[in-house]
Amino acid sequence: MENKGTFYITTPIYYPSDNLHIGHAYCSTAADSMARFKRMTGYDTYFLTGTDEHGQKIERKAKATGVTPQQYVDHIVDGIKDLWKLMDIEYDDFIRTTDERHVKCVQKVFKKLYDQGDIYKSEYEGWYCTPCESFWTELQLKDGCCPDCGRPVEKAKEESYFFRMSKYQDWMIQYIQEHPDFIQPASRANEMISNFLKPGLEDLCVSRTSIKWGIPVDFDPKHTVYVWVDALTNYISALGYGTDHDELYRKYWPADVHLVGKEIVRFHTIIWPIMLHAIGEPLPKQVFGHGWLVIDGKKMGKSVGNVVDPVVLCNRYSSDAVRYFLMREMPFGADGEFTLRSMLTRVNADLANDLGNLVSRTVAMIEKYFDSVLPAVGPTEEVDRTLWELALQTPDTVETSVNAFQFSQALGSIWKLVGECNRYIDITAPWILAKQEENRARLGTVLYTLAECVRRIAVMIAFVMPKTPARIFAQIGLEQEEEKTWASVTDGQFCHLRPGTRVAKGEALFPRLDIEKELVRDQAPAEPKQTDVPKQQAKQEKKGHSAPEFPAEIAIDDFAKVKLQVARVLACEKVEKSKKLLKLQLSLGKDGERQVVSGIAAWYTPEEMVGKQVVLVANLKPAKLAGIESQGMILCAATENDGKLKLMTVEPGMDDGAVIG
Ligand code: ME8
Ligand code: MG
Repeated sequence: MENKGTFYITTPIYYPSDNLHIGHAYCSTAADSMARFKRMTGYDTYFLTGTDEHGQKIERKAKATGVTPQQYVDHIVDGIKDLWKLMDIEYDDFIRTTDERHVKCVQKVFKKLYDQGDIYKSEYEGWYCTPCESFWTELQLKDGCCPDCGRPVEKAKEESYFFRMSKYQDWMIQYIQEHPDFIQPASRANEMISNFLKPGLEDLCVSRTSIKWGIPVDFDPKHTVYVWVDALTNYISALGYGTDHDELYRKYWPADVHLVGKEIVRFHTIIWPIMLHAIGEPLPKQVFGHGWLVIDGKKMGKSVGNVVDPVVLCNRYSSDAVRYFLMREMPFGADGEFTLRSMLTRVNADLANDLGNLVSRTVAMIEKYFDSVLPAVGPTEEVDRTLWELALQTPDTVETSVNAFQFSQALGSIWKLVGECNRYIDITAPWILAKQEENRARLGTVLYTLAECVRRIAVMIAFVMPKTPARIFAQIGLEQEEEKTWASVTDGQFCHLRPGTRVAKGEALFPRLDIEKELVRDQAPAEPKQTDVPKQQAKQEKKGHSAPEFPAEIAIDDFAKVKLQVARVLACEKVEKSKKLLKLQLSLGKDGERQVVSGIAAWYTPEEMVGKQVVLVANLKPAKLAGIESQGMILCAATENDGKLKLMTVEPGMDDGAVIG
């Protein structure tokens, strides 16, 4: 593939913490997904992450633990690297602010700013928020506390060095206004200008004498460098800036994007660019401020104590599932509520059902109808060409979305293709084609088309789900490395798989989860009492659904009164406090949607109901079951020996809403 140039992306450097939470993982997953996408699409990519190890917070924690700050951070950094490994966060370099290379670089930048008069010595008097490592003036405080986090601040008065930020205020405002892509999403740029720049920039206090755990100012060692000046410099110290070995710096700087959480956009779009500008270096092309994972509306974080452990999630549900959820669920840039239920619901719907079923059905049908050997394409019809066309277009759509950091949209486009493939199976009904020898060539086209689409989907999901593609390729028997690349889905040719290849069904890609069980796993399950199931139903259940008495015969008019329709299950959930009932949302095609309550919970899970077509008595008088309105009844029959209920289903290919009779 042609080399499209370089791409340098960074995450923030994390404060060392012994339990990074899923909110931290969110930022790294996004950066890693972007880096993988750029690598895959032909960019020479460099992805930097690391740890921000200095400052008062660490100094105090180490003291409380009875170890030196260095011992304290060393131990924690190992754990962070383990987490990134578990989540397939594949960085090119991991910078630690305690690395000698970083320390030297910070000292050099500080000295340069001092020598040219941008840093001067004076006395600091004001307030300091230790958790945020931020200075505040009296005026900026909110009710006497930190305006960012609301926690108490400490008085600070000491000899300090100051950075002449005020001098650059107008230049900074103009720069932001003239470079609309610099701060993304754009709303954050307005916030920076009106909240921080327009009110006036004060010179920034950039050294402390009371904090020992930091980088000493080399020409005045009783001072240590302010942690944010120290931390921000990581983005260039890691590239060898200012050393004899600055090849990486010359190759990759300026960064294409610094990906950061929205609360630290301020440091990245005011202090950092002014520092760079002052030392005569180009600014990063973009700072992207993403939203937070929140729980009950509150930012997930250690101080609130509402953290979710990514290690637990990855070990139980796989890192690909966790990564998929993080990138799919919420639009990047906005805050998103994290709940285990929403994650499991997505994993079941998108991964176990949509993707998992597509792959397993495709492979199973090739096994069954072609003895596991991939058939060649035979005659094609409109329906095939429409799907081929979508498959050929999808990579472009995905690329546009990813480049705009719209991961959710990108995955949405891929899943549109997944959905269309599943629909294609319903429409072409391979099991019907298989019944007649004369349709064999046509059946070949259908199954080849599906296998080729599956290949393309596997290629496209790799940037978010790095482990899953290999498992899919193994099932469709794909070995050629060149058919696993981005080039192989963007050359305008649909047919890449080689007919004659052997497929082999494997394990389910994502096992279907029993969501309710997962949610109560670690708690003693409180069995809800069943009080409101209608008597009628309870009685029936006891009788084991024995057949009611029927008149010997009825007139056609009697039957004609019953409106039976084909309905598709759009959504389905358990009825709370009932073991028997499921609540279903049904589609009747152009006749709209219906809600029906049905006593099939003992035999069908909500997950397996979704997507099924059932038979609905559509003109039954609405009734309330367990207090919920039921607009009709879906047809079932009980099996002879155990009274198990089975649904009446319909031949594939029937329209939703079709009238039966
Ligand atoms: O801020 N949702 O480090 P940090 C989404 N050392 N992202 C979250 C989050 C949540 N609930 N909680 C944290 C620092 N993050 C500094 C950075 S860079 C020169 C110095 C994100 O460990 C947060 O927004 O507190 C930030 O981008 C990253 O995790 C590191 O946060
Ligand atoms: Mg933070």
